[in-house]
Amino acid sequence: MNKKYVFANWKMYLDNDESLSLAAEFANEFKNLPENIKMAVFPSALSFLSVIKPLQDAQISVGAQNVHWVEKGGYTGEVSAHMYKSAGAEYVLVGHSERRHLFHETNHQVREKVEAILSVGLTPVVCVGETGKEREENKAEEVIEIQIKSAYHNIVWPEGRDIFVAYEPVWAVGTGTPCDPVEAERMHNLIKKQVVALTGITPVILYGGSVRPDNAQKYLNNPDINGVLVGGASANFQHWKEIVESIE
Ligand code: 13P
Repeated sequence: MNKKYVFANWKMYLDNDESLSLAAEFANEFKNLPENIKMAVFPSALSFLSVIKPLQDAQISVGAQNVHWVEKGGYTGEVSAHMYKSAGAEYVLVGHSERRHLFHETNHQVREKVEAILSVGLTPVVCVGETGKEREENKAEEVIEIQIKSAYHNIVWPEGRDIFVAYEPVWAVGTGTPCDPVEAERMHNLIKKQVVALTGITPVILYGGSVRPDNAQKYLNNPDINGVLVGGASANFQHWKEIVESIE
């Protein structure tokens, strides 16, 4: 059976009490998910340690939204990949569009993070996507290719570790305007081809950007789309439940 990944990026939406109660609802509802569905939650750094136990007890993986690439040191406000590993994380989002565009994260920093994440035994989920302007100027493919190349060129990928990419067009993230599923499928195929050419490994590719209960099934039931990375709707129990239930 085709495996589907449902990854919930809670961004900075929930305080600690809200994170704890949503984690409890997730754990209760999704503790017996079928084997073909893999769920992961990316809570805030603050709430990571409060939610990890209930989620992991329910077989839901937990990941970090961002990391610093140095292991330890004088980097006020940062949390390293090593620290997340020691706290039980499995995945890390890297190069999310909000990191790239609001915090000016570069392709070079994304690469530093990917290497640091791999070196401590975690799995990076590399987010790529073009802006609306880049799409209008017919530069979407070029931008994605540069982002993919800088993340994976000449990288030594650990044996048995999956490669996760999230295609998240910047213009679709948090806007209510999702990418048409046929176009998302085209971009996924382009990304797949490029990752295979660089690494020899077929990646898991998720779609992200305004996934909601009323459109989720178009992505989740497309064989070229391995799953979804959801922001806003994943921080709402009822919306998330409906999204997960739309997997056929
Ligand atoms: P939204 O689902 O809120 O558009 O966010 C998508 C996203 O950025 C997931 O990482």
